[in-house]
Amino acid sequence: MLREPFGTTPEGHAVERYTLASASGVTINVLTYGGVIQSVFAPDRAGVLADVTLGYDTLDGYLRDKSYLGALVGRYANRIRAGRFSLDGRDYTLATNAGTNHLHGGVRGFNKAVWMCEPFAEGENIGLVLGHFSPDGDEGYPGGVSARVSYTLTPDGEIVIDFFATADAPTPVNLTQHSYFNLAGTGVGDILDHTLELSASRFTPVDAQLIPTGELRPVQGTPFDFTTPETVGARISDNDEQLRLAGGYDHNFVIDHDAMSELVLAARLTDPLSGRGLDIHTTEPGIQCYSGNFLDGTVTGKGGLPLQYRSGLALETQHFPNSPNEPTFPTTILRPGAEHRSRTVYHFVVRPT
Ligand code: GLA
Repeated sequence: MLREPFGTTPEGHAVERYTLASASGVTINVLTYGGVIQSVFAPDRAGVLADVTLGYDTLDGYLRDKSYLGALVGRYANRIRAGRFSLDGRDYTLATNAGTNHLHGGVRGFNKAVWMCEPFAEGENIGLVLGHFSPDGDEGYPGGVSARVSYTLTPDGEIVIDFFATADAPTPVNLTQHSYFNLAGTGVGDILDHTLELSASRFTPVDAQLIPTGELRPVQGTPFDFTTPETVGARISDNDEQLRLAGGYDHNFVIDHDAMSELVLAARLTDPLSGRGLDIHTTEPGIQCYSGNFLDGTVTGKGGLPLQYRSGLALETQHFPNSPNEPTFPTTILRPGAEHRSRTVYHFVVRPT
């Protein structure tokens, strides 16, 4: 495991970068800034490695980032309507940073924090435990939250992500990892020819502000049906109200779980040409599938290349957006004495032709 300096934030905090390599060939870089997965190198059918996640070469890129490339997202991943919710009879107002709404933890979410970091080795697995404390009032949230996220790289090419949090007052918590994948190799092209399969027979349709209406709608017969493999691009331009509202896919899918908290296969992504595949298992009830519709080529990513429209697919395992205002959605309220725990596994594989 390699550890090296990666610059200093404007507040004077030193940032480090770790490199973790596995026997499968999968090698990852992790930053203490935002707990970012800066890159994942994964082999194709011929064993050729390519960097399959979007990111930046320098800390400056991450300091300016507005797309959450590779970052840990909290205290609440995704949107909360008008940045408002009430809890135990009290009203709270959060920072708003997406129009009039709260997105991904606010102006300075967990993705903008320098995390504490401890490397570990456990048998053949190696990993990092990242820690961050979010104080009472942070971005408007009640109570202090201690968050811990571990990345474990297995010899088989899995990144196991364990999320853990406790709170000293009741508060919403919804943590995710916001990597964008391009299994052909970052910088090569868009993700429209990737094949996607989602274990989701329903999704949460949105309004014009990309906030779920509260409905759980069957995907059957819609461009949101990925219950059998389909390319991301096959129906993305269909004349469909939901696709129009979001400018493509930017929706939460309801993962078909037999029982809550069970680790299930949520998504299967494939680049048919190279054979690189990614299987995502999670204990979370939802997964946001975001086709990079806001990327427009104006920001420079790794290798000095522009981050082009739809050049990466984010698959964000999570609780549903706006849950604090939707009593029928699974709760995201963390109370003192309880523990928030969730697990998501990215398994990088090679698929036969
Ligand atoms: C999430 C949201 C998108 C967008 C990106 C960041 O995935 O669902 O609407 O805000 O983050 O650009």
